[in-house]
Amino acid sequence: MSTGLLGSPMIKSIQDFSLAGKVVFLRLDLNVPLSAPDAEGHRKIEDDSRIQEALPTIRYAMEQGARLVLASHLGRPDGKRNPEYSLEPVANHLAELLNEEVTLAHECIGDGIELMVQSLKNGQILLLENLRFYPGEEANDPEFASRLARLAQIYINDAFGTAHRKHASTYGVPSLLLERGMGLLMKKELTFLEPLLYQPKKPFYALLGGSKVSDKIKTIETLVRKVDGLLIGGAMAHAFWAVQGDSIPAEAKQPKTEDIEAARSIMRDARKREIPVYVPLDTVGGFDIGPKTVQKFSEVLAQAGTIFWNGPLGWFEKPEYAHGTFEIAKAIAETQAIKIVGGGDTVSAVKKSGYADRFDHLSTGGGAVLEFLEGNGLPGIDILKLNQRELQLIHSALRED
Ligand code: 3PG
Repeated sequence: MSTGLLGSPMIKSIQDFSLAGKVVFLRLDLNVPLSAPDAEGHRKIEDDSRIQEALPTIRYAMEQGARLVLASHLGRPDGKRNPEYSLEPVANHLAELLNEEVTLAHECIGDGIELMVQSLKNGQILLLENLRFYPGEEANDPEFASRLARLAQIYINDAFGTAHRKHASTYGVPSLLLERGMGLLMKKELTFLEPLLYQPKKPFYALLGGSKVSDKIKTIETLVRKVDGLLIGGAMAHAFWAVQGDSIPAEAKQPKTEDIEAARSIMRDARKREIPVYVPLDTVGGFDIGPKTVQKFSEVLAQAGTIFWNGPLGWFEKPEYAHGTFEIAKAIAETQAIKIVGGGDTVSAVKKSGYADRFDHLSTGGGAVLEFLEGNGLPGIDILKLNQRELQLIHSALRED
């Protein structure tokens, strides 16, 4: 009945519950990029991947006859109601994709919402307004969490992208509802990501790009202990060049001292473990990797059993600097390795390259993937593993505070 994921105690999945007639609080990550508001204040969804990825769990729950209360945050409205961050465009798009009515509630808690939930019929959907309109969400306020928890009988978290946040909807609510588990997307994410920490198919290479090493240092420190080689691209590589004493083109982004120190410490760790760190051999104007690097990286990656890629290798949004990233996407696509991509920019680069369907997993997590790979667990996942006794201990500690 429970899933037996590598390295983690059992977490129930939505498929382990009998959902018919039950109110299910389904935490999703519908935090999609939106356009700037037009003259009437309307915003358009620029990439609906996260909504698409939420559909299997929503459809499954509807087919099983659940009464669905969907909840998500959108952007960072800082605990205040702000129409620019309303989930209205998301509700409309979701209704189109499902071809079903999706009612957007204008609140998340209160008597009005409780009545709306009571009048839900089996298979119907109510989407709560942006959770972050309430300061209690990010503060994991017990009162806010208990008012959300009161709405439902079963809690399901399918918001992998938000699992690194200890917020009311990701931590407080599941600590109050005995029947709790994960959705199909969360299960898929863990199925691909857990083996990276516990049992990657060897050789395992991590390809890392983006701008700052210091932002990803904790993740890289863990990865250095797991991988058989690191490949570094993007502006992040400039810090590694600095450590090696190589010159950095004047027009390129110059690394900060903290990035150089982070790169130095990664090089030291890698040397101790005797694993190679591949840095770019050439560059296109300081904003893309050059042809020699593409060739070298492609040769190394061709040997891989597993590849994890986070961070574009150049400024791929500009066509003149996209070549390196797209060529590496092609090279990875052609390998026999298990190919996993994490991070919003990297996923969008892979999609733009035209090779996305040859990858095994494009994670919906940005910060969540990186924190997951630090290996210390994520609050939104850990809470689903606790047994009743452990939850009681948390509650008594909270009461004593
Ligand atoms: C994300 O986009 O990474 C998640 O939705 C989390 O958003 P946050 O960084 O604003 O908490």
